[in-house]
Amino acid sequence: MENSSKNVIITGANRGIGFELTKQFAAAGYHVLAATRKPLQAVALNELADKDENNITIYKLDVTSKLSVDNFGKTLAETPIEILINNAGILDTYESSIDDINLVDFAEVLVTNTISPIRVMRAAMRGLRLGNTKKIVNLSSFMGSFEGQSNGAHAYRTSKTALNRAMQIFGRELAEEGFIIMNLHPGWVKTDMGTEAADIDVVTSVNGLLKTIESTKLEDTNQIIGYDGTTMSY
Ligand SMILES: NC(=O)c1ccc[n+]([C@@H]2O[C@H](COP(=O)([O-])OP(=O)(O)OC[C@H]3O[C@@H](n4cnc5c(N)ncnc54)[C@H](OP(=O)(O)O)[C@@H]3O)[C@@H](O)[C@H]2O)c1
Repeated sequence: MENSSKNVIITGANRGIGFELTKQFAAAGYHVLAATRKPLQAVALNELADKDENNITIYKLDVTSKLSVDNFGKTLAETPIEILINNAGILDTYESSIDDINLVDFAEVLVTNTISPIRVMRAAMRGLRLGNTKKIVNLSSFMGSFEGQSNGAHAYRTSKTALNRAMQIFGRELAEEGFIIMNLHPGWVKTDMGTEAADIDVVTSVNGLLKTIESTKLEDTNQIIGYDGTTMSY
């Protein structure tokens, strides 16, 4: 199959890693279904889509809204999807402690980073089952690994740990249908979330992620895979 007939959903496609994934998947000839919660304000994404109109279609999607995800799923119901990339995510703060932790914010991080990828995945299942590739990719983080021993960012770390675990279980269940579910670590990347202090630029990260997404086989999926091919256990 030519890449041009391969549909890839990318959530949070308007900035950061999601925007660069959109750029690089479109450049590789895929058709990107670029989902963002505010399409009218997504200036760079609209400019990119205008230049590359056959390869990028913009959709409105707030991953935390049941109504928005349901509508997205209905719109795409008969469209074969090759790859779903759950990229949208939030980091509330690194600076948290038992004395000042904000549990409302904690819950919002869990809903956005853990529950919402599952909701989007469920909405996309019909299309994914019509496709051949059957890959579900989650932007996770080494911060969610039990091997990571640094502190802070309680909600974020917990949300990624839970995401890894949930997706591992779905992965086992769906393997018999030929699905490959992977939890990827993009590196510490210079984006709004990663800040300018981060290790790598977004182009380097996404170059590696794209190669990993295309090459990952079923047997690789019980670990977090880094953009550079390094792995870490859950
Ligand atoms: N940067 C890093 O160093 C790093 C490291 C490890 C993992 N990650 C993971 O990689 C992914 C992308 O990170 P990033 O650095 O690109 O972050 P970012 O620059 O902060 O961008 C986050 C993206 O998620 C979208 N988003 C957030 N909540 C949403 C919602 N409810 N509905 C739809 N979209 C929503 C944002 O859209 P709006 O513009 O509408 O807010 C934005 O497009 C995240 O899952 C993150 O946890 C990043």
